[in-house]
Amino acid sequence: MNLVGNWSYPTTIKFGAGRIAELPDACASAGMKNPLLVTDKGLANLPVTQDTLAILDAAGLGRSMFSDVDPNPSEINLAAGVAAYKAGGHDGVIAFGGGSGLDLGKMVAFMAGQTRPIWDFEDIGDYWTRADTAAIAPIIAVPTTAGTGSEVGRASVITDSVSHVKKIIFHPKVLPTVVICDPALTVGMPKFITAGTGLDAFAHCVEAFSSPHYHPMSQGMALEGMRLVKEYLPRAYADGADLEARAHMMSAAAMGATAFQKGLGAIHALSHPVGAVYNTHHGTTNAVFMPAVLKFNAPAIHDRFDAAAAYLGIDGGFDGFCTYVQDLNNSLMIPSNLGALGVGTDRLDDLVTMALKDPSCGGNPIELTAQNLCEILDDALR
Ligand SMILES: [Fe+2]
Repeated sequence: MNLVGNWSYPTTIKFGAGRIAELPDACASAGMKNPLLVTDKGLANLPVTQDTLAILDAAGLGRSMFSDVDPNPSEINLAAGVAAYKAGGHDGVIAFGGGSGLDLGKMVAFMAGQTRPIWDFEDIGDYWTRADTAAIAPIIAVPTTAGTGSEVGRASVITDSVSHVKKIIFHPKVLPTVVICDPALTVGMPKFITAGTGLDAFAHCVEAFSSPHYHPMSQGMALEGMRLVKEYLPRAYADGADLEARAHMMSAAAMGATAFQKGLGAIHALSHPVGAVYNTHHGTTNAVFMPAVLKFNAPAIHDRFDAAAAYLGIDGGFDGFCTYVQDLNNSLMIPSNLGALGVGTDRLDDLVTMALKDPSCGGNPIELTAQNLCEILDDALR
């Protein structure tokens, strides 16, 4: 197996098993002498994290870690992280983990030198220009899951702990300077996380591919990303130590997140509020929504998914693709509806209101309204 590469798009990516050993070099190239590794509570004591701290320590870079990060990180986690960063006199952040560790780590580097509150930088219009660009600390990203793709993204999702709304914070300089994609870091992922995160990558590709905006580069990436998931997610799920499958899933994750510059859609618009209100796993929630959203978007995406199905080796065009998605969910033990995921019917109006405000709405191929979001929710509940 020779799945190793140095890529410069969309940022510097050092890809390959074992390349976590190059973290000290990455720190040097990013100008960090005293980095703060930011990860989540669940990862803090696992060997994958402790081994990484040992690599830093051996290179004279210390072993500072902040891990008070919830599965859906909030502005409270962020304030604590910024305080730790300042108290330690750090000069950069190593964002380490799955979506929560990566997103919060990126925000600690972003907010370390800002004076305005985090919500002033929500991804609305040109709010990002309010930030003091020169005060943003350098970021190295090291994913330990294969799904979010946050390692190649210019935004983070932070949950408002008061309103329970997931907000997207965007700035071009939040894109990490260096990414180390080491698939060996993902071999210990449990099956549930392998499935959920892998299907998040798949949802990024499907929604980017469905988006009506003109971005042929993203379209190509989304299509090949779907192919990698189709071929390698079942293998990574069946055998977590299958390093080739883990590597291709790590690529698919980075590709999905790069592709969704073209747009996301109803899956994410609905998944964000459901995750914020019911604390469900993001990728798993996406997977539950996907069949209903594909059915809803059918009039707008039927033809392009006929072509995608042919490329993916799926018989039956768009309809065959929908059957494939349902079968994939079933084979990965994804709950068959929102109820099985733990979502009640008591706050449907709130979910719709929150979904309508989600920036992901803008990439859906059919305009989303309170009425049709309600119908999709209803379908996903059954
Ligand atoms: Fe996602």
